[in-house]
Amino acid sequence: MNMDTFPSNIKLVLLWLLCSIMMFTSAMCSNLKKVHCNEKDMNRLLHFKHEVIDPSGMLSSWLTERDCCEWTGTMCDNTTGRVTQLHLPCHTNHSSVIALGEMDDKSHCLTGEFNLISLLQLRFLSYLNLSNNDFKAIHYEDYVNTTNKCDNLPRGTPYHMCGNSSNLHYLDLSYNYDIVIDNLLWIPHLSSLQYLNLSGVHIGKEVNWLQSVTMLPSLLELNLEGCQLENNYPSLDYANFTSLQVLNLANNDFTHELPNWLFNLSCDITHLDLGQNNIHSQLPKTLPKVRSLRFLILSHNYLKGPIPDWLGQLEHLQRLVLSKNFFSGPIPTSLGNISSLVVLDLETNDLSGILPNSFEKLIHLEQLLLADNSLTGIVSERNLLSFSNLNHFSMKSPDLIFDFDPKWVPPFQLKGILLGFIRDKLPLWLFTQTYLNYLEITDSNSSFEPLDKFWIFAANIPFLYLVNNTINGDMSNVLLNSKLVWLVSNNLKGSLPQISAEVVVLCLYNNSLSGSISPLLCHNMIENKNNLIHLDMGYNHLSGELTNCWNDWKSLVHIDLGYNNLTGKIPDSMGSLSNLRFLFLESNKLSGEVPFSLKNCKNLCVLDVGHNNLSGVIPSWLGQSVKGIKLRSNQFSGSIPTEICQLHSLMVMDFASNSLSGPIPNCFRNITAMHFDYASTRKVGFFFNVNGLQGRMDISITMVIKGNELEYFSLMNVIDLSSNNLSASVPSDIYKLTGLQSLNLSHNHLTGSISEEIGNLKPLESLDLSRNHFSGEIPQSMSTLHYVGVMNLSFNDLMGKIPFGTQLGSTNLSYIGNPDLCGPPLTKICPQDDKSNHTKPAGEDVADDKYQVYSCFYMGLGFGFATGFLAVLGAIFFNTTCHNAYFRFLFRLYPMLINKRTPSFEILDTGTVVHDVRALETYFTQRFLQEAQG
Ligand SMILES: *[C@@H]1O[C@H](CO)[C@@H](O)[C@H](O)[C@H]1NC(C)=O
Ligand SMILES: *[C@@H]1O[C@H](CO)[C@@H](O)[C@H](O)[C@H]1NC(C)=O
Ligand SMILES: *[C@@H]1O[C@H](CO)[C@@H](O)[C@H](O)[C@H]1NC(C)=O
Ligand SMILES: *[C@@H]1O[C@H](CO)[C@@H](O)[C@H](O)[C@H]1NC(C)=O
Ligand SMILES: *[C@@H]1O[C@H](CO)[C@@H](O)[C@H](O)[C@H]1NC(C)=O
Ligand SMILES: *[C@@H]1O[C@H](CO)[C@@H](O)[C@H](O)[C@H]1NC(C)=O
Repeated sequence: MNMDTFPSNIKLVLLWLLCSIMMFTSAMCSNLKKVHCNEKDMNRLLHFKHEVIDPSGMLSSWLTERDCCEWTGTMCDNTTGRVTQLHLPCHTNHSSVIALGEMDDKSHCLTGEFNLISLLQLRFLSYLNLSNNDFKAIHYEDYVNTTNKCDNLPRGTPYHMCGNSSNLHYLDLSYNYDIVIDNLLWIPHLSSLQYLNLSGVHIGKEVNWLQSVTMLPSLLELNLEGCQLENNYPSLDYANFTSLQVLNLANNDFTHELPNWLFNLSCDITHLDLGQNNIHSQLPKTLPKVRSLRFLILSHNYLKGPIPDWLGQLEHLQRLVLSKNFFSGPIPTSLGNISSLVVLDLETNDLSGILPNSFEKLIHLEQLLLADNSLTGIVSERNLLSFSNLNHFSMKSPDLIFDFDPKWVPPFQLKGILLGFIRDKLPLWLFTQTYLNYLEITDSNSSFEPLDKFWIFAANIPFLYLVNNTINGDMSNVLLNSKLVWLVSNNLKGSLPQISAEVVVLCLYNNSLSGSISPLLCHNMIENKNNLIHLDMGYNHLSGELTNCWNDWKSLVHIDLGYNNLTGKIPDSMGSLSNLRFLFLESNKLSGEVPFSLKNCKNLCVLDVGHNNLSGVIPSWLGQSVKGIKLRSNQFSGSIPTEICQLHSLMVMDFASNSLSGPIPNCFRNITAMHFDYASTRKVGFFFNVNGLQGRMDISITMVIKGNELEYFSLMNVIDLSSNNLSASVPSDIYKLTGLQSLNLSHNHLTGSISEEIGNLKPLESLDLSRNHFSGEIPQSMSTLHYVGVMNLSFNDLMGKIPFGTQLGSTNLSYIGNPDLCGPPLTKICPQDDKSNHTKPAGEDVADDKYQVYSCFYMGLGFGFATGFLAVLGAIFFNTTCHNAYFRFLFRLYPMLINKRTPSFEILDTGTVVHDVRALETYFTQRFLQEAQG
C-alpha cells in the first residue's frame, strides 16, 4: 500500500489508528502477563553486587525478593524478562572551592573490583554504563581461560567460543581513574559494540589498542580521551574501521607524527578529535580518503607547515579547529569553499597574509576565531558583511589594522569578542552588541573614550577581560558588575571602583590605582551577599590601612594586595575570612605583629608578608594546611619556634633577613613535605564554582632560589633562614629533609662542621652556607649533589682540600674567605698536591679543563630545570552549560619567568567536557607540560 496515494488528512487518521492499536496491545500485554526477571540474570547481577563495594547503598534495591527488572539501574526486555541495560554511572559534584590536588568526592560511588567478563554473561545485555565510579580494577582475563563462563555450554569452553554471546552495543567505563587495562584482547569479542568509551582509564600499556578496536565491525563511536595512549602501534599503516563516525583520541601522549592511518580510513568518519597530544608533523599533502568529516579537531599539538588546500574539499566540514599549533603561511583561500562551515578556529598559530576574500561565502559561520597569528592587512566591515549568524569573533595580530566605519551596524549579534592591537578608537560597532557574554581586548593603545559609556556597556558583560591596554581612565566612579573582572595592566587611575554582588573574580593587578582600599571594601552596600572569592589589587599605589571591613567578605579565598604602599597593622578582622587560602601582603609598609586571629583561617595555604616592617615573634599557631610561609625582610625576632615542625605540609619556609636568634630547632625532620620532591603536590591553587562562574586559579609565589627572587607556579622545598642572628651548630635533623631543593643559611653565626650527611640532600639545587663560622673540612659527600647549580661556602673557617666534584656549580668565589681551603677552583695549591705534581707545573689548566666539563654538564641540567619552571598558567573555565565558545577566547598562556607575580588564567577549550576535577587536572597538566616542552 502506497501511503502517498492517500490525501494527507486520511494519512493522519491512519497513523493515529495504527498508534492506538499498538498502544492498546502493549498495554494489554503488560496487564495480562507481567514479565519477571530471568533468574540467571538475577544471579549474575547479585554476583556483581557481592563483588563490588557500595558505600552509599546505590544497589540497596538489589534484593532477591524484588524483581530484578525493578532494581536501580536495570532495565529488562519486557517480553523475555532478560536484563538488557545496566545504567549505574556515579554523579559527582564539585564543591564551590576545592584546592588543586584534591579531587571530586567519589566516596559515594561504587568501588572495589569486578569481573567484566562475568558481567557480560548477561546474554542480552546491550547497554552497560559504569562511568565516573571509583572502581579500582576490572578483571577481563578470563575469556581465554577455560572456566565455565558460558550459558548452555559445557564447562571448559573458552569465552570466545560462546558464539555471538555479546549483544553489547554500548560500553562506558570512563573516568574510573584507577582502572588500568593492560590489554584490549577481550574487546573484539564484543562484536556488536557500537559505542565504546574508556576515557580517563589508563590503557597506555596496551600497545595494540588500535588493532583491537578496529576489529569491531559495528563501532560507530570510540572515545579514548586521556587514556595515556602512546603512538606505539607498530606497523599499522591503515586502520580498518568500517563504520566509525566519531573518533576521540584527544589528550593522550601521542608524539611525533600524525598517524598515517587516520587519513587512510575507509569508513565514513564524521568526528575526529586529536586535540592536545604531542603530534609534531605536517598535515599530509594529499586529500585524505575520509571526505565525510564534519568535525576535525587537531588543536594543541605541534603541527607545522602550511594548512593544506585540500581541507577546502572536505565539503561536509562544520567544525575545523586547528588552534594552538605552529601552522604557518597564508590561510588557504580554499577554506572559503566549505560552505557548511560553522566553526573555524585557527587561533594561536603563525599564519600570515590577509584574510581571504573567499570567506564571504561562509554564510553559515558562527565562530570565526583567528586571534594570535601574524595576519596583516586591513579588516573592515566589508570582511564581515556576510556573517549574519556570527556569534563569536576573534582577531588579533600586531600588524593587522582595523578600519571600521563608525556608523556600521553589523548584521550579527555576538556573544563573544576578542580583539587586540587596536589603534586609534575602539570600533564603535562594539556598542551595538547587546548580548555580549564575553569581551576581551588586549594590547591596544586605542582610546576607550567615552569612558563612562564604555564602563556602563562593560557592566552588562559577564566576562570582562582587558589586559595591557592604555585605558588611562579614572575608576573612582565606576561600578563593576561582571562575574569575571580581569583588568590587568591598563594604567587605570584614581581611587578604587565599586563592585556589585555579581563579581566573583576581581583582578586589578598592575595599574596606577591609588588611595585607600576602603571605597571598595567598606562602602559596599552588599554586606555578606557578595560572591567575591579572588581579590587581586597587587602592583598599584594603594595606601592607607588594611581597614576593618573584612567581616563582609567571608567568601574570599585569595587576597593579593602586594606591592602597594599600605601601612598600619594587619587587622584582626582578617581572621574572620574562614575560606581564605592565599594571603599576599608582601612589599608594603605594614607594621605590628601578625594577628593571632589568623589562626581562624583554617585553610590558609600560603602566607606571604615579606618586605614589610612587621615585628614580633614568628607565628607559631599557623594551621596544618600551610604550605608556604614568607616572612622575609621584616623585623621578626626571637627564636624559631619548634611548632613550625608540626606543619607537615610546609614546603617554603622563608624567614630570611629578620632578627631571629638562637639555634635552629632540632625537629625539622617532622616537616614531612620536605622529605619528598613529588611534582604533583607542588602546584597550589583552587577550583571554584561560584555564582555560575567555574574556574581554576593557579597561584604563583616568588621564591629566592639561586640568589634570584623569581616567580614560580610550583612550590619548591625551600628553607631560607639567611641574614639573621642564628647561632650554634646546624642540627643534624635538617639533613633528613631528602626533598630539599634550596637551603640558605648564609649570614648568620652558625658554627660546627658541615655534616657528611649533607650528601642525603640529593635534589638540592642551591646551597648557601656563606658568612658563618663553619669549620672543618668540606665533606666528600657534597660531590654527589649533582643538581647543585649555585653553591656558596665563602667566608667561613673551612679548611683542607676542596673535594673533587664539588666544583660543580661553583667558582672560586664560592670558597673565598676560607684561608685554610686549598685546591681547585681556588688557585691555592694544597700542600700534598704540590709535592706529587712537580712534573706538571700547569696543574691549573688540568683543573680548568675539568671545570669546563662540569660547567657544560651543569648548563645542560640548568636548561632542563629552567624550562620546567617556565610554564605558567592560571586558569578559569566556565560551566559547560554556557556556550562552549567562550572557552576558546581565554585559552591562552603566559609563559614567564619574571621577578614579580603575575596573575593569569585560562578558560577551557571548546569541546572539552569536564567530568570531574581529576579530568581537569589531567587536562591542565597536559597543557602545562606541553608549554614547558615548547
Ligand atoms: C515494552 O518496551 C517498549 C520498547 O522498549 C516500550 O515502549 C513499552 O512501553 C514497554 N512495555 C511495558 C509494558 O513496559
Ligand atoms: C587464566 O587466569 C589466570 C588467573 O585468573 C591467569 O593467571 C592466567 O594467565 C590465565 N590464563 C591465560 C591463558 O591467560
Ligand atoms: C576490513 O574489514 C572488512 C570486514 O571485517 C574486511 O572484509 C576487509 O577485508 C578488511 N580490509 C582490510 C584492508 O583489512
Ligand atoms: C602590550 O601592548 C603593546 C601594544 O600596545 C605591545 O607592543 C606589547 O608587547 C604588549 N605587552 C605585553 C607584555 O604583552
Ligand atoms: C609610596 O609612597 C611613597 C611616599 O609617600 C612614594 O614616594 C612612593 O612612590 C609610593 N610608592 C608607590 C608604589 O606608590
Ligand atoms: C616530631 O615528631 C616526633 C615523632 O613523631 C614527636 O615525638 C615530636 O614531638 C615531634 N616534634 C615536634 C617539635 O613536633
